[in-house]
Amino acid sequence: MPDSGVTPTPRGKFFHGLWEWKPARLPGVPVILAIESSCDETAVALVRGEAGAAAVVLAAVVSSQIELHREFGGVVPELASRNHSLHLRPLIEQALRQAGVSVGGIDAFAATSGPGLASSLLIGSTAAKALACATRRPFLAINHLEGHLLSPFVGETRVPPHLGLIVSGGHTLLLEVSGAGRYRKLGGTRDDAAGEAFDKVGKMLGLPYPGGPEIERVAHTGNPAAYAFPRSMLHDPHLDFSFSGLKTAVLYTLQRVTGKLPVADLAASFQQAVIEILVGKTLKAARCTGCRIVALSGGVSINQALRAAFKQACEQAGLELVVAAPWLCTDNAAMIAFAALLRHLAGEQSPLDGDIHPHLPLV
Ligand code: KG4
Ligand code: ZN
Repeated sequence: MPDSGVTPTPRGKFFHGLWEWKPARLPGVPVILAIESSCDETAVALVRGEAGAAAVVLAAVVSSQIELHREFGGVVPELASRNHSLHLRPLIEQALRQAGVSVGGIDAFAATSGPGLASSLLIGSTAAKALACATRRPFLAINHLEGHLLSPFVGETRVPPHLGLIVSGGHTLLLEVSGAGRYRKLGGTRDDAAGEAFDKVGKMLGLPYPGGPEIERVAHTGNPAAYAFPRSMLHDPHLDFSFSGLKTAVLYTLQRVTGKLPVADLAASFQQAVIEILVGKTLKAARCTGCRIVALSGGVSINQALRAAFKQACEQAGLELVVAAPWLCTDNAAMIAFAALLRHLAGEQSPLDGDIHPHLPLV
């Protein structure tokens, strides 16, 4: 394998807007600029890498709209797209400055093309296409879920065959990954995504949006065995998930409570049910496929209790666990740039007249 001569950036080193200087351009090593704007985060990242060597994140900036949407208890699409167009240009300039690369020094431009909010996807996609057009460089349309799926391997030299679990606000997906670009869907949610269930239960408990981090915070002081919520579909032979029954079970329990709401116990018991479902199904998938590596990604995979449960279960089952660094779990552009880099190195590019795909599946 060729050696890039560059020390890989340790996973988890970058945070929103933070950067570390590295010699940005290396002769013959492509630099990708990617834009992520599928939902309520506007993000830009530059990643450099070559085949067989670890990719280096040169810059990664995110402008989060969480505060903006909080008063509405969820994402308002019109507000999201307006803010993407407001923040995108300064973010691109900031990312280029941080990486020490000019627009002319970019080898390919990429953007998330779906799934996501149509009006938000259009902003990032159009900007990346315009840059590609102006500089006569290739454009790459990247599936947001592929970004999440590959995010645990940013900074690794290759994407090994593994079992990938994506747990985000919009998706809960189990995939068998034979390598970059080769995915087989094993199972997915039949109703709510895991993150969506966290957000909805958070709302029921009177917690601020988004519910995921809030439930984790209050669950620390709660008893995870206080309420026996259902582990839907856990013992069914298939690898699909269901979280709406669990959500309804929390609602019915809430309605029966008299007096002060035991928020911590409810949060801890709900979180424990989600964890057991996710861990149980993933281990079943590992047994079915014979995969020896499990990779976790998506916003919900930040959850420390979930990580700890996976660590323990994988150790017991003799499986290797790879988890994306926390800053790579929630929506970011580094994961999009990394997925684009792998496609660029494989000689791929996307047409400039290609559309966005709000409902794009991964497989
Ligand atoms: O991957 P992501 O940023 O966006 C999507 O592509 O959906 O995931 C956002 C989701 C939200 O539902 C949020 O509540 C959840 O990730 N989340 C968490 C935690 N942090 C974020 N869920 C559980 N525990 C957390 N600590
Ligand atoms: Zn996402």
